[in-house]
Amino acid sequence: VPVPMGAAIVPPLPKATEGVRPLRLSLILPTYTESENIEAIVGKLTALLDPTLPNAYELIVVDDDSPDKTWEVALALSDRYPQLRVMRRQSERGLSTAVIRGWQVARGEVLGVIDADLQHPPEVLLKMIAEIEEGADLVVASRHIEGGGVSDWSFIRRFLSRGAQVLGLILLPGVVGRVSDPMSGYFMVRRSAIAHREMNPIGYKILIEVLGRGEIGDVAEVGYVFQERSVGESKVTWRQYVDYIGHLIRLRTSRWPIVRFFCFCAVGFSGVFVDMAVLYLLSDPSTLGWGLTRSKAIAAEIAIINNFLWNDAWTFADMSQKQKGWRKRFKRLLKFNSVCLLGLVLNILLLNLLFNQFGLNRYLANLIAIAAVTLWNFWLNLKLSWRV
Ligand code: GDD
Ligand code: MN
Repeated sequence: VPVPMGAAIVPPLPKATEGVRPLRLSLILPTYTESENIEAIVGKLTALLDPTLPNAYELIVVDDDSPDKTWEVALALSDRYPQLRVMRRQSERGLSTAVIRGWQVARGEVLGVIDADLQHPPEVLLKMIAEIEEGADLVVASRHIEGGGVSDWSFIRRFLSRGAQVLGLILLPGVVGRVSDPMSGYFMVRRSAIAHREMNPIGYKILIEVLGRGEIGDVAEVGYVFQERSVGESKVTWRQYVDYIGHLIRLRTSRWPIVRFFCFCAVGFSGVFVDMAVLYLLSDPSTLGWGLTRSKAIAAEIAIINNFLWNDAWTFADMSQKQKGWRKRFKRLLKFNSVCLLGLVLNILLLNLLFNQFGLNRYLANLIAIAAVTLWNFWLNLKLSWRV
């Protein structure tokens, strides 16, 4: 199989009319020096999947040019196993990229991965397939639920594995917290949940990337016992832990809604002009000449409505599209309005605190208060007003 280059984006399912018949499942077997395991695992998987998904699955070995020629051993097997495909990579390395590259050439509606060293018991696949059939977007084989476990791990390895999970929970609770075993390298995901999204796979933990960048609805889990390796050895070194931390940080920052925040600030800026203009029209002696307080209250309210309309149509457009209708829109406006008014009170309190208690220059104090309240407004509106 040719090695895909460039951005790691899984394409949508090829159409049947393009001459390729889509399959139900594509299972990736990443390998690095697994020549002694490859025949056994392929045999077991075939025996299991042939009756379940006859002619509707494929196994893709993605080998990183192993010195023991795992790719050659696998290629030799493909006469006997027509559903077996082999990718030999010479320019790129690493477990996570191997999985993505495999998925990029896959033809299945469901994309999966299993270790090639028999540490992931193949029988569990049938339960995973059943969960997908029942509607899950992602099904993870887990060591940490009923029926799961590790066979004979040292205290230190258990500790490191759990420590990595806790660190993930702190940095990315909404991602890592969705499964009991985020370190699992044994799972299946519906292609439609990750197609078109650019993956940035670093290190070993591809599941975290899938959870972090995919659009994953229902998640299911099935228990499994992590088996002992009978042949060969694990490729995990301290390096994988460093990569893992780098991966978490990268995913964390990429998930911050930076572009959205800039839109929000630009809209806020437009609101200043609306506020000014209305204030002029209402209170200026040359125009209506109303009282200052009354004029300002109306100007502020119109500015808030202005900001709402722009934010609804632009900053949070993707989110408002998922909740159409006038009633819902009006509800968003009410929430936005409350958050902004509360923000105004906060602004005044903060300004007083910084000026009176901390003795800051009043303009510096005001600037800090405005920045803090902008962040507050943004975050609350993101989480409350537009939350789908
Ligand atoms: N192509 C490729 N490139 N494959 C690799 C590479 C690589 O750089 N490194 C490892 N593999 C393959 C191995 O040959 C094996 O089939 C599978 O990926 C898992 O690698 P192991 O080195 O055996 O990992 P492990 O047993 O320590 O870790 C397992 O447990 C973790 C749970 O703690 C893996 O299953 C992880 O995916 C899993 O998260
Ligand atoms: Mn292993």
